[in-house]
Amino acid sequence: MPIVARTAFGCSPSGSAGPDSSRLRHSDPVAADPRGVVLRPRPGAVRSSAPAPACLLRSHNEPVRSRPPRILRSRVRARRPVQPAMATLLEDYPPEGPVLDVGCGSGDLAIHLAESGVRAIGVDFVEEAISQAEEKRGALPATVAELLEFRVADALRPSAFGHALGAVVDSGFLHLFGPEECDAYAEDLARAIRPGGRLYLHEFAIDFEIPNVPREVTGAEVRARFTPERGWRILEVRSGEFLSQVAPMPTPAILACVERVVR
Ligand SMILES: C[S@@+](CC[C@H](N)C(=O)[O-])C[C@H]1O[C@@H](n2cnc3c(N)ncnc32)[C@H](O)[C@@H]1O
Repeated sequence: MPIVARTAFGCSPSGSAGPDSSRLRHSDPVAADPRGVVLRPRPGAVRSSAPAPACLLRSHNEPVRSRPPRILRSRVRARRPVQPAMATLLEDYPPEGPVLDVGCGSGDLAIHLAESGVRAIGVDFVEEAISQAEEKRGALPATVAELLEFRVADALRPSAFGHALGAVVDSGFLHLFGPEECDAYAEDLARAIRPGGRLYLHEFAIDFEIPNVPREVTGAEVRARFTPERGWRILEVRSGEFLSQVAPMPTPAILACVERVVR
């Protein structure tokens, strides 16, 4: 059965696939923007029929009002800050490599990890997202670029990318899937992460009354999926926010760091 993820509504500023990206064509104006965002002009902003390019955004949802100079427009697609809540979790519980970034979008979290000196593999099933990630990788210093790899693939089976991963970062991925897919994904994470390795989660903590929008992930769900009996130890579950270019307000989020104890 084909895997159809929920829409990428609420994707992070670091970039991701568009609404129901498995079905959209890349020539589609929404799918063509692998961050999954439809940028709406604020009152008074310069109007355009096309979505604003990434270089017109200087922070999570703040359009820059004037056009950038030509030299900036010709540069590699702009990088975005990683989700602050995930960045803090990674600072508090530093990961060891190699790190797998599941549903990496256009790669900014994987790049952030490589810049901290950790080997990182970013996986997304949207080709356009990975080609943007590769474009960003090409603009990095060689010492960082050589720590990075991007692949177009299904990320629901992390063990396909290694059986001794130091960490898996899941920023807005688990919340795209229903219970059965999540069960199989969690079982496979246990095969992929080596003892002492860690899983980092950052998911919506709210259900929207809108079809095909990511679902709520609760602390209870995290604790039920990653139990000591299954070889996991919860280091922390905390509340946070998911920043988005689509939503006017930060979305309540849950974050967790879970350690693999036994295989
Ligand atoms: C909500 S976005 C998050 C993107 C990125 N991690 C971030 O925080 O900005 C979810 C991403 O998962 C990708 N995705 C969804 N299902 C996938 C699958 N089965 N395999 C690989 N990527 C998938 C989408 O293309 C999209 O880029």
